[in-house]
Amino acid sequence: MTPALLERYRDRLPVGPDTPVVSLGEGGTPLVPAPRLSERLGASVWLKWEGANPTGSFKDRGMTVAVSKALEEGAGAVVCASTGNTSASAAAYAARAGLPAVVLLPAGAVALGKLAQARAAGARLLDVRGSFDEALAAARELAARGTHALVNSLNPYRLEGQQTAAWEIAEELGGPPDVLALPYGGGGNTAAYALGFREAGEALPRFVLGAAADRAGTVASAIRIATPVHAEEVERALADSGGVAIDLPDDEILAAWRLLAREEGVFCEPSSAAGLAALLREPPPAGSRVVCVVTGHGLKDPDAVDRDAEPPVPVDPDPDAIAAAAS
Ligand code: F0G
Repeated sequence: MTPALLERYRDRLPVGPDTPVVSLGEGGTPLVPAPRLSERLGASVWLKWEGANPTGSFKDRGMTVAVSKALEEGAGAVVCASTGNTSASAAAYAARAGLPAVVLLPAGAVALGKLAQARAAGARLLDVRGSFDEALAAARELAARGTHALVNSLNPYRLEGQQTAAWEIAEELGGPPDVLALPYGGGGNTAAYALGFREAGEALPRFVLGAAADRAGTVASAIRIATPVHAEEVERALADSGGVAIDLPDDEILAAWRLLAREEGVFCEPSSAAGLAALLREPPPAGSRVVCVVTGHGLKDPDAVDRDAEPPVPVDPDPDAIAAAAS
């Protein structure tokens, strides 16, 4: 059985003997070698495949800690604002904990699979007439009233849990990589990786971050965030690591997304390819060790595929017709 993240790193996470561990078997995700990308970039590239988490994104690493602590601290319910993945994760872990979950979604801006996940888990979904930033402000105000525990990344337990991805990478590679590429939405994940490498006593890898140039309207809906709440921590990680954040047009994000699926067989959602898109703009030094964090599963956003790839071709169950249509 996959050990719960909170059990595996019990001595390094805020968990005591009385903490109820709410787990779905998160973490321990594959570090997949990327041979074609390695050849293209002249470096050793691995993909940290976070789509392999229980609800299909890296959010589960933080959610197991945040929901376990909410339960320990006697919360009656949890609340989050989300572009989709946080809500899917919060809904699942709250269900597991037996807590009600309220999720605030920017109306009309959340990918289909993520909505399905939160609905299936029985969360209360509220379509906020406004942006993600406005929904987050409302979630913070509701939480401040004391009725709901906030499980967005402003909850410090979230980042403590998410830092475990940095620990796993350093354990597997025998130290930090030279370069770490990842998407930059609100910046919580960047802050968590920086925390993780620092906590492990490791040097920071050079952070190469991919953000959407059109933050408020990008097709990469998971990172459609106009104002990153963790901007200061991100600036510090960039300064300390000699890193860079690159603003990317949608077509570059989508090109990297296509490349991951078609050349490496890793099907992620568009936002998850922003780290790779940044890496293609800012190639790593020759021979360096590079980890590209792929944050969420492609099944979350089937409409993205529909806009991008050919639909199935109708054919009779006849070998000649199939042979003709197959070429
Ligand atoms: N990739 C995916 C798949 C995400 O869902 C998110 C953020 C990010 C990258 C960016 O991470 O915000 O820590 O810089 N999703 C949040 C959500 C906002 O509500 O699910 P970040």
